[in-house]
Amino acid sequence: MMKVLLTGGAGYIGSHVAASLAAAGHDIVCFDNLSNSRADVIDRLEAITGKSVPLVVGDIRDRVAVRDAITSHGANAVIHFAGLKAVGESVAEPLKYYDNNVRGTLSLIEAMVDCDVRTLVFSSSATVYGEPQYLPLDEAHPTSATNPYGRTKLMVEEMLSDIAAADPAWRIAVLRYFNPVGAHASGLIGENPAGTPNNLMPYISRVAAGRLSELPVFGNDYDTPDGTGVRDYIHVEDLADGHVAALDRIGAEEEEALSVWNLGTGQGYSVLDMITAFERVNGVRIPHRIEPRRAGDVASCYASAARARDELGWAARRGLDDMCASTWRFERTAAMRNT
Ligand code: NAD
Ligand code: UD1
Repeated sequence: MMKVLLTGGAGYIGSHVAASLAAAGHDIVCFDNLSNSRADVIDRLEAITGKSVPLVVGDIRDRVAVRDAITSHGANAVIHFAGLKAVGESVAEPLKYYDNNVRGTLSLIEAMVDCDVRTLVFSSSATVYGEPQYLPLDEAHPTSATNPYGRTKLMVEEMLSDIAAADPAWRIAVLRYFNPVGAHASGLIGENPAGTPNNLMPYISRVAAGRLSELPVFGNDYDTPDGTGVRDYIHVEDLADGHVAALDRIGAEEEEALSVWNLGTGQGYSVLDMITAFERVNGVRIPHRIEPRRAGDVASCYASAARARDELGWAARRGLDDMCASTWRFERTAAMRNT
C-alpha cells in the first residue's frame, strides 16, 4: 500500500481518484490551493471513504510547502492533478498557464527529489495528440499542441521524459485522459465549474436544471455520422480506477522509468448522442440550437484503449447511461446543498 499525495486533490478528478485510492486501501493526503475547488469537498470525501482525509492548503509552486507536506505525511508517491485547464483562458493569459502548469510541475518535482520520492502519476490529456492523423488515437500517435494549455501538457510530458531518461530510479505514469464526465455514485462529489461551463456535460446539466436556457451545439457540418463533434466520454469513476491500476503497475515495474497510457473507452459519441441520452436517462428536456463551429475543435477524437487494457488490466466499465444519470444526480444534490 502507498501513501499518496494528490496535488489538486480537492478538484473534480482528484477527488474521485482520492475515493478510489482509499477504497483500494491506500492512504491519501490532498494538497490544493483551492483556486478552483472548495475545502468542503474534503468533508464529503470523508463521508464517502469513512476515513479522515488530510488537506494541506498550499501551492505546488511553493517548493518548501510541498516538501513539508510530503515529509510530514510520509508520502511515497504523488499523483499530480493541480493545474489550470481552460483552453480559451490559456489563449488570453498564457503566462498564467506556463506559471501554474509548467513552473508548478517543475517546482513539485524538485520538492519530490528533495524528499527522495520518485513515483509520480501525471494528468495529461488527449489534447497532446493535436489534430488526429488517424483514429483511434494510440499512444504512438504524433504529439503536437494547438493552444497554450495543450502546450503546457506537452512541455511537462517532455520534461518528465528527460527526467526519467537521466535517472532510471523514477517511476512515472503519464495518463492521457479523453473526456472525463459524470460523478461519484454517492452524488456527493462531481464537477461544478465556476461561471458558464466550457465543456459539454456540465453545460447540458445546467440546461436540464434550468440554470442555463439553451445548449449551443458547436457545428453540425463535421464529417461525422450526424455532423456534430464526436468524443470519447469516460466516466470519472472509471478514470479514477485507471489511476489506481497505473499506480499499482509502476510500483511493481522493474524496467521502465516512464510509461504512457491513454485513459479512454475507445467509443465515440456525438453531441446529439449525448443530448439524446441525457434526455432519455433523466426524463428531462435539453433545448439546444446549432451554432457555428468552435475555434480549435476537431471533428472526431477517440482512444485506442488497448495498451491500458493489456498492460494495466484496466478497462472502462460504466456506460453512457451511468455517465448521464450520475451527472444529473450530482447536479440535483449540489443544488440542494447550495454548492
Ligand atoms: P479541477 O480544476 O477541478 O482540479 C484542479 C485542482 O488543482 C483544483 O482543485 C485547483 O484548486 C487545484 N490547483 C490549481 N492550481 C494549483 C496550484 N498551483 N497549486 C495547488 N493546487 C492547484 O480540474 P480537473 O478537471 O480535476 O483536472 C485535473 C487535471 O486533469 C488537470 O491537470 C487537468 O489539466 C487534467 N485534465 C482534465 C481533463 C478534464 O476534462 N477535466 C481532461 C484532461 C486532463
Ligand atoms: C476540451 C478542450 C480540451 C480538453 C478537454 C477536457 C477545447 C477546444 N478543447 O475538449 O483541450 O482537454 O476539453 O475535457 O476546449 N460542445 C458543444 N457545446 C458546448 C460545449 C461543447 O457543442 O457548449 C461540443 C464541442 O464542440 C465538442 C464536444 O461538445 O464537439 C465536447 O466538447 P468539450 O466538452 O468542450 O470537450 P473537447 O472539446 O473534446
